[in-house]
Amino acid sequence: MDDEYQQGIIGAPSKHALFITLNRDQLLNSRQKQTLLRHIAKLPSLLQEQQQVYPDAQLYLNIGLSSGLWDYLEIQPKPAGLRPFKAITNKKVTMPASDADLLLHLRSNRHDVNYHLSQILLSTLFPILKIDEMVHGFSYLDSRDLTGFVDGTENPEGEHRREVALINKDKHFAGGSYVHIQKYQHNLARWQQLSVEQQECSYGRSKAANIEFSSSNKSSSAHTARSAIKNNQQQSVEILRQSLPFADQHSQGLMFASYAAQADSFDLILASMCALDKHGDSDAILNVSKAVSGHAFFTPSASWFSALMESS
Ligand code: HEM
Repeated sequence: MDDEYQQGIIGAPSKHALFITLNRDQLLNSRQKQTLLRHIAKLPSLLQEQQQVYPDAQLYLNIGLSSGLWDYLEIQPKPAGLRPFKAITNKKVTMPASDADLLLHLRSNRHDVNYHLSQILLSTLFPILKIDEMVHGFSYLDSRDLTGFVDGTENPEGEHRREVALINKDKHFAGGSYVHIQKYQHNLARWQQLSVEQQECSYGRSKAANIEFSSSNKSSSAHTARSAIKNNQQQSVEILRQSLPFADQHSQGLMFASYAAQADSFDLILASMCALDKHGDSDAILNVSKAVSGHAFFTPSASWFSALMESS
């Protein structure tokens, strides 16, 4: 399956990312729909050109299509698990659904190269699509979230990354992946009022040494207790995270991004984070961080794009 998937899905973490979401600018007639399909089919070749120009940048591009765009462009067949992001509201937590049409998740070790590629991609997609949001994610210190805790430690490793993130056997969608993106804005002023012990309790891990607490020492609202879950068959529910922090003068937080072979893995973990326990508590990280967007996309395999190029 080596050449079949978009390499940035499972590749090692990058120093920089651009998370770009795009939407249709207008109602499209059938000719414009065909043009958009052709432009989307061309995007992987634009990546390859820039990979050749900047071989040391370890440049990746993951292209994701939403359920809405899939239906609007009447692409057949559709991945079985692709559906709009489910907004969540309970007494404590509100998580919106944004669902832009297209995701361009660029990443590499050079912000300038990411930006350069983004301009090439965007000039291809304009004016049919317009930018919904473009966020620069960067690796902070030794891979820490802006709350100061190392993020990504329990991510799948080695061969297991493929097993978790890529669809294995499927006539149309082998090598594809379900991707979820949420922008989380942190209230760092509130977080910094907590003692280090309280912060560690929120995650269920130590801060400086990044060591996991034993389960008997974890609170039921600890983030790692809420996110390490089993399904009804008692199997671990796993996702591959490719999140990075972002920061500007308006807000700071985490661009959460996860890839999974099963569409519902992310939904199950998110539901566990939002659920209120008998004390009325959700995942403790949600006391200091608020989701302000929520997107679901499908990133098809490289051969899917080739087939699209031939048919469009
Ligand atoms: C404010 C947003 C979030 C922050 C700051 C955050 C940060 C972290 C940190 C620091 C860890 C511990 C180290 C590690 O294993 O990576 C972690 C673990 C994890 N997070 Fe998050 N996370 C956030 C949201 C989410 C969301 C939305 C999901 C999925 C729906 C998620 C899924 C996980 C999983 C599966 C683990 C590994 C748990 C384990 O096996 O111990 N996280 N996160």
